[in-house]
Amino acid sequence: MIYDVMTLFPEIIEGYCSYSIIKRAIENKIIDVKTHNIRDFSLDKHKKVDDTPYGGGGGMVMMCQPVFDCFNSIEKKNDFEFIMLTPQGEKFNQNLAKELSQKDQIILLCGHYEGYDERIRLGLKPREISIGDYVLTGGELPALILIDAISRNIPNFLGFDKCAHNDSFSQGLEGYLEYPHYTKPREYNGMIVPDVLLNGNHQEIENFRKDESVKRTKTRRPDLF
Ligand code: ADE
Repeated sequence: MIYDVMTLFPEIIEGYCSYSIIKRAIENKIIDVKTHNIRDFSLDKHKKVDDTPYGGGGGMVMMCQPVFDCFNSIEKKNDFEFIMLTPQGEKFNQNLAKELSQKDQIILLCGHYEGYDERIRLGLKPREISIGDYVLTGGELPALILIDAISRNIPNFLGFDKCAHNDSFSQGLEGYLEYPHYTKPREYNGMIVPDVLLNGNHQEIENFRKDESVKRTKTRRPDLF
C-alpha cells in the first residue's frame, strides 16, 4: 500500500511514521508513506496557499491552484482512492478501514484553515471522510488515524506475532469489543489475574474471553448488537 499525503505540515506525518509498528512496516516495505508539501506547488511569490473568502466572513480558505497542481504531480496506481479529510465527510470506522486496505494507493488531502475552496471538491471529486463529529485544526491527525487503522488490516502489517493468534478471539470477536487482557505479575496491589487464564486449558480460556467480550459489548456498546 502506498499512502501519498498532501499536507502543509509533512513533518507531522513523518514524525508519527518514524516510530513503532508503522516505522517497521515502512522499513519492511509493507507500506510506504510519501508526503507532498502543498506549499511547494504555490505559484505565488510568497508561497501563499490560502486566501480570504469571497462574500466575506472570517477565516482563510485553501486555494485551488496549489492543491490541484500537487494532486496532479502524484503518480497514480490503477487502483487508487483519493480522500479529502473533512468533518463533512462520511464517518470513518473499522469496516471502511478494511475496505480501504484493499486499495493499492491512498492519496490523502489534509486541509487547514476555515475550509477548502469548493472547486477542489467539484474538480477533483475526492471521497470525503470524517473521523468524528468534532472539528480539528487540520487534517493531519485524521490522515494519520486512517493510515494507522487501514494498515492494521494489511497482511503482515502486524507481523507474525499476531498471525499466531489469528484463529482465536485475540483481537476481540468480530464486531465486538475486546476481552480484558492481563500480564505479569499475577497479583498487583491486591488485584489478581482470573484463575482461568492460568490453568492452561485453551478451550476454557477461549470461552472466558468470548463471554467477557460479549458482556463488555452489551454493557458499553449495546448499539453494536
Ligand atoms: N479536519 C478537521 N476536523 C476533521 C475531522 N473531524 N475529520 C476529518 N478531517 C477533519
